Amino acid sequence: MEHLLKLLDMSGEEIIEVLNLADQLKYETKHGIEHPHLKGKCLGMIFEKSSTRTRVSFEVGINQLGGYAVVLSSEGSQIGRGEPVQDTARVLSRYVDGIMIRTFSQQEVEDLAKYGSVPVINGLTDFCHPCQVLADLMTIREFKGSLDGLKMCFIGDGNNMMNSLVVGGLKVGMAVSVACPEGYRPPKEILDFAKNYDCFELTDDPMQAAKNADVVITDVWTSMGQEEERQKREAAFKGYCVNKELMAQAKPDAMVQHCLPAHRGEEITEEIFEQNAQHIFEEAENRLHAQKAVMVKTMAK
Ligand code: CP
Ligand code: NVA
Repeated sequence: MEHLLKLLDMSGEEIIEVLNLADQLKYETKHGIEHPHLKGKCLGMIFEKSSTRTRVSFEVGINQLGGYAVVLSSEGSQIGRGEPVQDTARVLSRYVDGIMIRTFSQQEVEDLAKYGSVPVINGLTDFCHPCQVLADLMTIREFKGSLDGLKMCFIGDGNNMMNSLVVGGLKVGMAVSVACPEGYRPPKEILDFAKNYDCFELTDDPMQAAKNADVVITDVWTSMGQEEERQKREAAFKGYCVNKELMAQAKPDAMVQHCLPAHRGEEITEEIFEQNAQHIFEEAENRLHAQKAVMVKTMAK
């Protein structure tokens, strides 16, 4: 694995291999078995958007693998003053062994990989959130025993999370149903990919999407960078809340995933969130294990 730029670049088998390694690293971490696969290696982390989970789980993860991290923010670096990504890529490649980046444009991440000479890991763009979805798939498999043949539904915005869940879910053999209002559907690139799968459904009816689902997933209605659209979005997503009525459509043992941070009372009720807190916080923990697996696969050479 050279980079992790988006799940569209990976095969289903490659995704499963990352999940298998993540499970193994989780086991070793829980049993005090050290695994210094990246001893002495440096991960450069670039944040052009806020983060709690991604920031902490990558830094703790590289440390557990025997390496260390250097963190750059756009404001505190020349990136915020307009230094071109082509130059940042070539400079950082001379100092660090891998780069994790969280930014707005997917093109910037692709360019970082194109112009740099070290592995690049996408820690969220407007287009996708592959690390999060690897952690989600890991969590679903942990609780359900397998992924193949399960039905996942995503209720809400056709955003980075929906995009990666559609691609990741279909690639590992899940049926994927997404419900979003018109005007908030996933981009053409994702729909073009998904239309090759009979088990993909796009609807504007959340109850329909949730029918017989094994896993119900949602995310905020207003993502980072869209703050000015908040009011308009709140109106557009009325009726897209994961609540008791929606959960009644899913299988009785359906689990809920949320990448966090969550807005209780908007995309999910307090009641449903707290009933599913065990699965949701395991999902947050699994960011650590899944990303360690990604770092090992890309940086241990
Ligand atoms: N889910 C997620 O990526 O969280 P952070 O924004 O806190 O990193
Ligand atoms: N869709 C959200 C995910 C945050 C982890 C955002 O992009 O803000």
